[in-house]
Amino acid sequence: MAVLEILKYPHPLLKKRCEKVDRIDGEVKKLIRDMTETMYQANGIGLAACQVGVSRRVIVVDVSPIDQEKDFFAIINPEVISEEGEIEHEEGCLSVPDCSEKLKRKEKVLVRGFSAAGKEIEIPAEGILAIALQHEIDHINGVLILDRISRLKRELYRNKLKKERRKKEDG
Ligand code: NI
Repeated sequence: MAVLEILKYPHPLLKKRCEKVDRIDGEVKKLIRDMTETMYQANGIGLAACQVGVSRRVIVVDVSPIDQEKDFFAIINPEVISEEGEIEHEEGCLSVPDCSEKLKRKEKVLVRGFSAAGKEIEIPAEGILAIALQHEIDHINGVLILDRISRLKRELYRNKLKKERRKKEDG
């Protein structure tokens, strides 16, 4: 297993729609193990393959509280097949540092995909798990939380990044 580097906005791979996985081979399984380790090391509750530089439709999620037992799973080619209600929640993203925004999501979703063992799975999710799944599925479609906030807020974030970069260059 290996901890991988997490790509940060505005890396172009984060804007790309990821490719469907058509064969769950050793490479995909290794990717899932590495993504899981990377997610835990970064204290994240989810991670998409494109965030570690692999443009494929693979996500890992674990929304269990830190002091409780790990409850992780991976979904290959995840798809939302039904959704219901609305919920607002403050979201951050490992690829968009120092950005935390209140976003509207569906309160409940049913996600279908494949497990690492190649079995078709359906995950009924609500609350924080539903939010995490929608966030990660956004990633594999090339969508970031920055794409879901107002243009003004997006501009403010870009300016903040520019300033920080300048500070680093001057220092
Ligand atoms: Ni994210």
